[in-house]
Amino acid sequence: MKDYLEFREEVCRYAKKMYQAGFVTGSAGNISLRVPDEDNRYVITPTSVPYETLTPEQVVVVDREGDLALDLDYGPSVETPMHLAVYQARADVNAVIHSHAVFSTVMAVLRKPIPPIVEELVVYVGDEVRVAEYASAGSDDLAKFAVQALRENAAILLANHGNLCVGKNLLKAFNLCALVEKAAHIYIECLQLGKFTLLPDEVVEAEKEMYKVMKNM
Ligand code: 13P
Repeated sequence: MKDYLEFREEVCRYAKKMYQAGFVTGSAGNISLRVPDEDNRYVITPTSVPYETLTPEQVVVVDREGDLALDLDYGPSVETPMHLAVYQARADVNAVIHSHAVFSTVMAVLRKPIPPIVEELVVYVGDEVRVAEYASAGSDDLAKFAVQALRENAAILLANHGNLCVGKNLLKAFNLCALVEKAAHIYIECLQLGKFTLLPDEVVEAEKEMYKVMKNM
């Protein structure tokens, strides 16, 4: 039986990067990867295993229904339905990261989108960072609302919860998580200082077009 170890190693590596970046604490958040050229196999972090002690062997493999495709002692993340719903809806997405990064989560609690305030945001997200309708963690509704809010974009906020960043690979999804978190931080600082200026509409429109070109690169 195939063990998909190289993909489990990659997911484990990025899970630890997410933890070291401070985007999650303990075992919060989750990361997954679509196995290329395979019959609907997805590698995802196990539920409730602390990142500090996570090993590639603990990272699980599921099929498109979310059932374990490898016999392991660990269960898949409770957010497996959300990850799988994204892969189903978006053939261009091969990696999904859900983090609880603090400034993103502040915006998610405010249930306010992160607007186009810095040059690079729309180029990588596709638009402002929208907020998905609230549903409780791990629910099928959360999966549904996440896909609805994401549409063709690359990042959203999950109301009262965190963020969700997707990409062609884990490097892109991870860098996007860092960018969204930075933009959320800048926006919150701006709100505290008072007046701020959004990017001009024509720049935002041009950046949306750039996103469509860059998304598959
Ligand atoms: P898991 O440990 O099951 O991935 O759950 C963490 C989480 O953040 C749920 O939203």
